[in-house]
Amino acid sequence: MEIIRIPKIMQETSKTHCLRGKSIGFVPTMGALHEGHLSLIRRSKSENDITVVSIFVNPIQFGHNEDLSNYPRDMEGDIEKLKSEDVDTLFSPDVMPMYPHGFSTYINVRDLSDKLCGVFRPGHFDGVATVVSKLFNVVKPRRAYFGQKDFQQTVVIKKMVEDLNMDVEMVTCPTVREGDGLAMSSRNVYLSQDEREAAAVIYKTLISASELMKTGNPKPEDIKRHMRDMLKTEPLISEIQYAGVYDSETLDELNEFKKQNLFAIAVKMGKTRLIDNMFVEALNTKL
Ligand code: PAF
Repeated sequence: MEIIRIPKIMQETSKTHCLRGKSIGFVPTMGALHEGHLSLIRRSKSENDITVVSIFVNPIQFGHNEDLSNYPRDMEGDIEKLKSEDVDTLFSPDVMPMYPHGFSTYINVRDLSDKLCGVFRPGHFDGVATVVSKLFNVVKPRRAYFGQKDFQQTVVIKKMVEDLNMDVEMVTCPTVREGDGLAMSSRNVYLSQDEREAAAVIYKTLISASELMKTGNPKPEDIKRHMRDMLKTEPLISEIQYAGVYDSETLDELNEFKKQNLFAIAVKMGKTRLIDNMFVEALNTKL
């Protein structure tokens, strides 16, 4: 596996692949790789000639009071995992060449960035959109792979790709879960053992809410109440940031169901913020 740390070298390498007609599949990550990342890599490998993975803990997507300085890092372990997945190239730049002194261009995907997680993480999606557009310009992928767990991120990036005529196909892959249903996330390592066990309530709540759709004729507000009530039974959840039914395109909260509905949750367990979501189809076939 080739390891490239300089953006210009990555760009030249990608240019050569493109000139030779090779398709590049790209998996952007912040490292601390888990099975969720590996599933994206496997999908990229099955659909492209070359697979590039980036590891870059992007400082501009962290708020002042967030976990940038103790974000989990395991470069050696990550390299071993990438080698065993037979990844072609790891692009792992330092912060300076990505954001040299005087860097002053930011991307803001209006409306979508300020909803759901954006309410609690102001500026987060500007940081994500900016770094992903930089990475796309450097890596030149034909396809890019993201996990559904970070659903809002996929919506924001898709909109950016569309609005800015970026020639990249966005591929969203299913959330990979632990045995008890907890969505895999690099941040799960922050959880104490008790919190880790308690965190299973998030997925259980999504499942239970989706079951409720099959009974009676609930409204989105009934589903929301059910989700919140169930989350409140877990004393280790210190804050419910949002839980409810949302439009998967606009990310607005729904008063009436659509055919496909986004059930989404964000909670804090102690200092750790956890998110998850699920698509639930309305049974009413007229929708
Ligand atoms: O999902 C992530 O790991 C990050 O937000 C991403 C897409 C790599 C951008 O830094």
